[in-house]
Amino acid sequence: MGKLVICDHPLIQHKVTFIRDKNTNTKQFRELVDEVAMLMAFEVTRDVPLTTVKVQTPVAHAEGQVIAGRMMGLIPILRAGLGMVDGVLKIIPSAKVGHIGLYRDHETLQPVEYYCSLPSDVAERELIVIDPMLATGGSANAAIEMLKKKGCRPTKLMCLIAAPEGVKAVQEQHPDIDIYLAALDEKLNEHGYIVPGLGDAGDRLYGTK
Ligand code: PRP
Ligand code: URA
Repeated sequence: MGKLVICDHPLIQHKVTFIRDKNTNTKQFRELVDEVAMLMAFEVTRDVPLTTVKVQTPVAHAEGQVIAGRMMGLIPILRAGLGMVDGVLKIIPSAKVGHIGLYRDHETLQPVEYYCSLPSDVAERELIVIDPMLATGGSANAAIEMLKKKGCRPTKLMCLIAAPEGVKAVQEQHPDIDIYLAALDEKLNEHGYIVPGLGDAGDRLYGTK
């Protein structure tokens, strides 16, 4: 079973509280999501492999550690996943970004695919799937499945807020994926919204509805 990591750093928890608040406006919401994504990226990259190299300081020889292993790729699920990309890129600037377009049908709650554009070398990269909300898990599972079918290697799913139902669905369908969250909430309501959650992440990021 993949890891389930709740990023409980006080700065993240502080900002998530304001992200949840319905009085937070679109500009503030977007900025806070960007900041939390950047802070979460530290935890998401905690296990990247290092290799030892030698450098010459102005004083002496030194040994240091640099990042080794596979190059990374970020796969935001459109639309709301886009709100987290720039924050993560501040920490992993060399990552390439692919996009998967999925929306959740309001009646059936099933994900509907409408777009997929991936970097040419995506199969060689370690991929982080990004979406602020993990509700039923349908969208995340569909995105991970799409990537696997194309021979890619998604290893991590990064979300701001999840419902237990969504975590369980991903763990059951993709037990190889590590899940990183800023908060694990109580439940889904009858409309498939996370409770207490933050409402509709896409609408709050882009000021729609
Ligand atoms: C939201 C969210 C996830 C999905 C989560 O997207 O960003 O992609 O719902 O729900 P699930 O776990 O039940 O699939 P939405 O479909 O509202 O599209 P949007 O990002 O374009 O607003
Ligand atoms: N998508 C959202 O944006 N919010 C939820 O609570 C559930 C799905």
